[in-house]
Amino acid sequence: MTKVLDVQDLSVTFALRNSEVRAVNNLNFSLEAGETMAVVGESGSGKSQAFLSIMGLLARNGKTTGKAMLGETNLVGMAPHALDRIRGKDIAMIFQDPMTSLNPSLRVKTQLSEVLVKHRGFSREQATKSAVEMLERVGIPEPVKRANAYPHEMSGGMRQRVMIAMALLCQPKILIADEPTTALDVTVQAQMLDLFKTLTNDFGTSLVLITHDLGVVAGVADRMMVMYGGRAVEKGRVDDLFYDPRHPYTLGLLHSTPHIAHRAARLDPIQGLPPSLEHLPKGCSFNPRCAFCFAKCLEERPPLTPIGDGREKACFYEGPLKYEEVA
Ligand SMILES: Nc1ncnc2c1ncn2[C@@H]1O[C@H](COP(=O)(O)OP(=O)(O)O)[C@@H](O)[C@H]1O
Ligand SMILES: [Mg+2]
Repeated sequence: MTKVLDVQDLSVTFALRNSEVRAVNNLNFSLEAGETMAVVGESGSGKSQAFLSIMGLLARNGKTTGKAMLGETNLVGMAPHALDRIRGKDIAMIFQDPMTSLNPSLRVKTQLSEVLVKHRGFSREQATKSAVEMLERVGIPEPVKRANAYPHEMSGGMRQRVMIAMALLCQPKILIADEPTTALDVTVQAQMLDLFKTLTNDFGTSLVLITHDLGVVAGVADRMMVMYGGRAVEKGRVDDLFYDPRHPYTLGLLHSTPHIAHRAARLDPIQGLPPSLEHLPKGCSFNPRCAFCFAKCLEERPPLTPIGDGREKACFYEGPLKYEEVA
């Protein structure tokens, strides 16, 4: 297996008026060629900022430390013009709202072909031809005709496909998809996830699927990283984490996801709210919401620790994780 991305001790801090918050804390992970990794956690857990920082797209008050190695190149601290040459070509990121990537005043074929002219040095004519081919690949009917449309003339699902086409034009090594299906209805969502699977397979692209919804992870991702309060709290193969979660937060997410919870006794949302980064509790950040919390968890923060089979967890509790047994 070849590592395409190796992230070491990645942290993100934001300056506030009189203080600062750490939105991402010492994240370590790597991405193998062609694999799909899901990054899961409730809203505010640091998922987006972690990957925006890697892309050099943080807000002005944000600062990144650590390393994000794309081959021999560290993306952290790279000069903007150098990053600009890598973004879209080697590593691309798409978002929930396609209009964050698409320019409303340009025809679809114009904005797609511009990417190829810029990054690949294609002629206009070559670029337009490839753009239309890519629209067809992502399942846009009558691609020649649709290529002449403006984004607002298309449905939400079609715009989403155009955004994916644009992201894949240069066949990037890595595609980061941040909540790509969150705004879509269930049928279109399923079609999109299928499309991701096909395209990443065909192009050998590694996919990072960022989502707060565990329901979209099964069947799409190989591995997953669960984040809470800016830290990774559990990592491993999706099948292992679904079947046998080792962190109470992962268990809680599973119990609160319809379609997955049916395997569990009941649909049972996690009590309480995610912590505010400015007021993280002492010890384990999850302790106020944890059914398995004991004295040590209130004092010490559990480090992320390997537990075999390529799995890692940040939790002191070693007993069986079943709600029934603590009730
Ligand atoms: N520009 C900013 N200034 C200060 N804090 C920020 C800024 N952007 C994000 N944050 C903080 O980072 C946290 C994590 O954000 P984010 O990564 O977007 O969460 P999510 O897991 O929902 O994608 C937010 O809850 C917020 O506290
Ligand atoms: Mg987000």
